[in-house]
Amino acid sequence: MRPTFTLFASSAKSGSSKQWLARQARDPFVKARAQNAARYRARSAFKLLQLNDHYKLFGPNKTNVAIDLGAAPGGWSQVVADALGVSEPEEPETIQRSNEDVVEAILAESALGTWSETQTSAPEEGTKNRKTIISLDVLPIKPLRGVRTVRQDFLDGGAELVASLLPTPDTKADLILSDIAPNMSGNKTHDSAAGLEICQAVYAFAAHHLKAADRERKTLGGHLVLKYFANESTKAFYLDVLKPVFHHIYTAKPDASRAESNEYYFVCKSFHGDKRIQVGSSNKDELL
Ligand SMILES: C[S@@+](CC[C@H](N)C(=O)[O-])C[C@H]1O[C@@H](n2cnc3c(N)ncnc32)[C@H](O)[C@@H]1O
Repeated sequence: MRPTFTLFASSAKSGSSKQWLARQARDPFVKARAQNAARYRARSAFKLLQLNDHYKLFGPNKTNVAIDLGAAPGGWSQVVADALGVSEPEEPETIQRSNEDVVEAILAESALGTWSETQTSAPEEGTKNRKTIISLDVLPIKPLRGVRTVRQDFLDGGAELVASLLPTPDTKADLILSDIAPNMSGNKTHDSAAGLEICQAVYAFAAHHLKAADRERKTLGGHLVLKYFANESTKAFYLDVLKPVFHHIYTAKPDASRAESNEYYFVCKSFHGDKRIQVGSSNKDELL
């Protein structure tokens, strides 16, 4: 079999894109996805698989309502839909690809974002439609069976839009995921503020829409997975905002998260409810 590096050596690509491609081709998570054409849309799916494996966050018997924020192209939503049993059945045969095809698949993915229309897809009717998965991104998400996909900026009407799509105004989510990554400018102060703004907005949303634990009935609260980029403000956010209202909080860096990035996840288990939130309000400022 021809080793992949000969392909890179013969390409006319620039040094940095060759390095990027070489890194992609070495990456076991990129390879795992590219070798299985039928499965995940994004390498990031492996992060959520690992988080769920470790922290037991969702599954068919514990999750009826899940919300995925910053969901494009849809890898996490696929993982959730699979776990909740609403996705397409697996292909009977896994398509094994050659090394050359793997490189082609990686290159094709690097041209992501070419999908045509803004899509809003509704879940299929049928016996499984009591599971609700709502996925939002500012970019289009190709339709996924069993998932309601919406295109909207979370900070600009997206939170309200997702809330309006819940089965009833009182429906609470068992799981809220945010893999939202704000555009990084390279300016440390600006980027820290942008990351914190997303975390605050997602928590404000969760405070209203995540299921709270019920002591009398001895039921657990919902879980929140929140991506953050570590900086000087994240500790205060953790201590002041998250810690008082979740039973357990872990800071996680799945193996599939690149070691050189400062990306981490707060894995927050069993929401207690937040007394700082006034009923009927959706104002995040009251929390902060
Ligand atoms: C790392 S990607 C998410 C990958 C996704 N979890 C998956 O598995 O396919 C981060 C996403 O955050 C989205 N994003 C960034 N800012 C956003 C915002 N204000 N509202 C909604 N989505 C946003 C980006 O468009 C991007 O698709």
